[in-house]
Amino acid sequence: MSEISPRKPIRKAVFPVAGLGTRFLPATKAIPKEMLPIIDRPLIQYAVDEAREAGIEQLIFVTGRGKTAIVEHFDMAFELETTMKDREKALDVLEPTRIQPGNLVAVRQQVPLGLGHAIWCARAIVGDEPFAIFLPDELMIGTPGCMKQMVEAYEKVGGNLISVLEVPQEEVSSYGVIAPGKREGDLTEVTGLVEKPRREEAPSNLIISGRYILQPEVMRVLEKQSIGAGGEIQLTDAMAQMIGQQPFHAVTFGGKRYDCGSKAGFVEATLAIALQREDMADEVRAIAQRLLAEG
Ligand code: G1P
Repeated sequence: MSEISPRKPIRKAVFPVAGLGTRFLPATKAIPKEMLPIIDRPLIQYAVDEAREAGIEQLIFVTGRGKTAIVEHFDMAFELETTMKDREKALDVLEPTRIQPGNLVAVRQQVPLGLGHAIWCARAIVGDEPFAIFLPDELMIGTPGCMKQMVEAYEKVGGNLISVLEVPQEEVSSYGVIAPGKREGDLTEVTGLVEKPRREEAPSNLIISGRYILQPEVMRVLEKQSIGAGGEIQLTDAMAQMIGQQPFHAVTFGGKRYDCGSKAGFVEATLAIALQREDMADEVRAIAQRLLAEG
């Protein structure tokens, strides 16, 4: 008579944004690296748009000192809006930055102890429900977006999910790497996880690419998590302990990924997105061709 109860929806997402952004100095001396723009949107906006497309309502930013511009960006800018209205300027450009009051929460990571620690800092706000994590450096572009694709997979298999992609074997030591089990379409069972393995010890070349759907139990594992790779508390190590206790799958994203944690990746993302935008693609293509021809 009673139907199987639907899975708890993914309503909350954690964005760890407390990093110092040293790779982009001096640009990031006074502004958070997540506020660096790809054309006319700060990097964080792309991750937030992806979250909202996937039905996520509440954004939890794990921030640190000097990072308040991120919270400001998603606040209502009363003076700006009033002035724009008075000048009869369209406000729709601000639509993606409108987060309802109560749907944006900032918590502080007071000491840089690693990604696992950053996520653990959000435990009181996450509470007892499954949640998403976005690493905004990883820019994922596609239709549907990466998290939407993951939420659809979650509705089928539940448990824990991470996005993965293939990289050349010589790059695996910079990432979290999965040991893959059975594969069915874009879903792969995860049988093991290791953070920043040596190239010869990596169980595959499938890396964790910065999107997660996790069950709240991970917070209890993180609570006791000891120091891992790089002297940091690693989310990957905590997730590894959940394998076997709960379903754990990897989703191969159908779109494109740009590594905006590196300068060349940032330039690539800027160019690629400009070339996809109707309002500027022709102009940018002509510029790129001219620059290349000049050598
Ligand atoms: C983090 C994660 C790692 C993941 C990577 C994706 O590493 O710990 O598992 O593969 O993000 O960018 P970080 O880049 O913080 O060293």
